Amino acid sequence: IKALALLSSLALFLSGCGKDNLTALVPKGYGSEVSFNLIILTTVVMTFVFLAVIITYVIVLLRFRKKKGQEDFIPKQVEGNQTLETIWTVIPIILVIIMAVPTVIHSFTLSDTSEADEHINIDVTGNQYWWHFDYKDEGFQTSQDLYIPQGERVYLNMIASDVTHSFWVPSISGKMDVNVDNENTMYIEAYEEGVYWGKCAELCGPSHSLMDFKVIVVSPEEYDQWIADMKDVDPEAEPESAVAQEGKELFEENNCMGCHAIGSSPAQVGPNLTNFGDRTKFAGFLDPTKENLVDWIMDPESIKPGNKMTGNYPDLSEDEADKIAEYLMQLQPSEVTPDSAGGL
Ligand code: CUA
Repeated sequence: IKALALLSSLALFLSGCGKDNLTALVPKGYGSEVSFNLIILTTVVMTFVFLAVIITYVIVLLRFRKKKGQEDFIPKQVEGNQTLETIWTVIPIILVIIMAVPTVIHSFTLSDTSEADEHINIDVTGNQYWWHFDYKDEGFQTSQDLYIPQGERVYLNMIASDVTHSFWVPSISGKMDVNVDNENTMYIEAYEEGVYWGKCAELCGPSHSLMDFKVIVVSPEEYDQWIADMKDVDPEAEPESAVAQEGKELFEENNCMGCHAIGSSPAQVGPNLTNFGDRTKFAGFLDPTKENLVDWIMDPESIKPGNKMTGNYPDLSEDEADKIAEYLMQLQPSEVTPDSAGGL
């Protein structure tokens, strides 16, 4: 029963606690397909080793156990067996080679940049505790939701601004360390449209487990449309509602722009908010309701400990936070949204 409980909790763990598209076991991209095939290969090898050891053990146990009437019997004593020792040295070496060769080949393939110029390139910066995406070929930046076209190879050039992070979208990609001093490149390719959950996979501080993001895979046509819409953003545009307009003024008065950018400004102390109203989640994991956003603006520390927004702006009243939330939620520059990609 205990073993069963352990196995079922392990299964739940591997399936990503029920979150959609957060499992390496249902691959929907090139990197995760490669990982999945390696998982199967190593599991087969390990099962073979496990069975070989257990079966040998049971046979020896039954066949050579002390029998009745043989209490004083001492079996023939052997010392070394060249053939046996050769076999149990050579077989493990062969098994290790079977696992190592494809692992090494795929590791190098996924980080091979020789064809990067022919494909989409996006610069990724890992920050405590959010992700910045620079569509450098298009001249704009965004954060937290990474839009990519279905079926196309996308090269991610990854660097960290503070400490080491690790980029991982289990359903689409392998894992890649995001370092402070050297850029790592990995390409990803998604097979199906949809929204895919990403995690930071390197312990990076108190809110490491909350450093979530999404990869939003849309059709190539929708992707082109999204790019055009994002390039078209006018950060100075006046919001339609009066409340949002007041929120915009409060946003500017309280110097939120010191850290956050709207439009293509390079400011990136905090996430770029250009398409904030389209976000699948706030702060990486909160549902996009105004109530959650007000809670976040009022007290980010209680939601995501150690984040850099804490203490960096004056005290706001709930009414002011509400107006700022109203302003941010209407920042929706594109018709192409996670909903059109299949939602969460
Ligand atoms: Cu970033 Cu863990």
